[in-house]
Amino acid sequence: MKTQVIIVGAGPAGLLLSHLLHLQGIESVVLESRTRADIESTIRAGVLEQGTMDILSEAGVGARMRSEGALHHGIELAFGGKRHRIDLNELTGRAITVYAQHEVIKDLVAARIAAAGQLLFEVSAVSLHDIDSKQPSVRFTHGGESQQLTADFVIGCDGFHGIARPTIPEPLRRDYQRIYPFGWFGILVESAPSSEELIYAQHERGFALVSTRSPTVQRHYFQCDPKDEVANWSDDRIWSEMHTRLESSDGWKLKEGKIFQKNIIGMRSFVSTPMQYGRLFLAGDAAHIVPPTGAKGMNLAVADVRLLSIALEAFYKKGQEERLSTYTEDALKRVWRAEHFSWWMTSLLHRFDDASPFQQELQRAELDYLVSSRAAATVLAENYVGLPFA
Ligand code: FAD
Ligand code: DHB
Repeated sequence: MKTQVIIVGAGPAGLLLSHLLHLQGIESVVLESRTRADIESTIRAGVLEQGTMDILSEAGVGARMRSEGALHHGIELAFGGKRHRIDLNELTGRAITVYAQHEVIKDLVAARIAAAGQLLFEVSAVSLHDIDSKQPSVRFTHGGESQQLTADFVIGCDGFHGIARPTIPEPLRRDYQRIYPFGWFGILVESAPSSEELIYAQHERGFALVSTRSPTVQRHYFQCDPKDEVANWSDDRIWSEMHTRLESSDGWKLKEGKIFQKNIIGMRSFVSTPMQYGRLFLAGDAAHIVPPTGAKGMNLAVADVRLLSIALEAFYKKGQEERLSTYTEDALKRVWRAEHFSWWMTSLLHRFDDASPFQQELQRAELDYLVSSRAAATVLAENYVGLPFA
């Protein structure tokens, strides 16, 4: 079997790339190890940058995002018992949309299926071969049968734990990593929104985040021990912790409701370079991870595949390889900016158990500066809404 581009992984990166290539008349096959039901229900990101919204809209898969997603023109920073608004729109002219990642996935899967795209679920034993030749291939098992697919390119969109990145020979790879000594406890709650905008809270007991999913479902997070277990957290304990971290002198109060999902995620910063080896290209979490505080992960995946679709279009339509050869360099510029921002937001808002009193005062001084200086607030705002695409 042969195709033009093999894409490993049907996350936001893989599905969007397949769709963007289809719009350019380039054929791809997407191989995904999980079921369709699983990828369409896994709860992950929620914040889409303006640039991500624009790409989804231009690609014709933004209708539900525009009607069901919530456009937010600002965020709030809460600390010292007070809430402070960062007006994203006034500072940058841009906004963000809160629309769950699994809804983006549903929209992309529907678009691929409507276009009779080849999207194979529940593949296993995936391995990459001859990626340093012009005829790379992928072997995998699907429906109990071993298969081999040959293509011009293989794109690894298979997330942090995927098989694509390790296929790049170790001596050529350089990994940069920081693992944080805390995680996020995430909950989904049946209630009306507590706030019109997201609240990022810094408190001596740790970070908390008030987010949303819909008029009836809310998404909240709080900093926890990454080795803690969901079973240790009764609903009462969760609400008590959230109320403490979000206490506000202006009478605002978080709304409680039925908690119907709980999970704990670890946090790391990670970049692997190069993002290309021979005819293998990496995109999204396969090549880099950010801690979720800056809401950048899915947006970076989208930015990577935008670059790749432009480079592949130039290759197929004009025979040009220039954009393919500069992919690592082009993608990493945005990646490292987002890595810095995500690390900075994380450092600004979390409690570090080993922080000295001196470091704690510096953290508070920086928060005070952010909410009192237009220049400082603009730095946060323009990174949060996402820098324009090059
Ligand atoms: P993934 O979504 O990980 O997709 C990879 C796919 O590849 C998966 O479906 C996997 O099953 C498949 N796969 C893996 N191995 C194989 C294999 N061998 N063969 C075939 N298929 C394989 N980002 C934001 O932008 N904004 C946010 O607000 C935000 N919040 C987050 C909150 C949480 C709690 C978490 C966990 C993440 C958050 N992120 C956020 C990050 C975001 O979810 C990820 O960055 C995003 O999913 C990356 O997309 P991807 O397509 O690169 O990888
Ligand atoms: C959400 C996730 C984030 O990482 C973030 O910074 C803001 C919101 C969310 O899932 O809603």
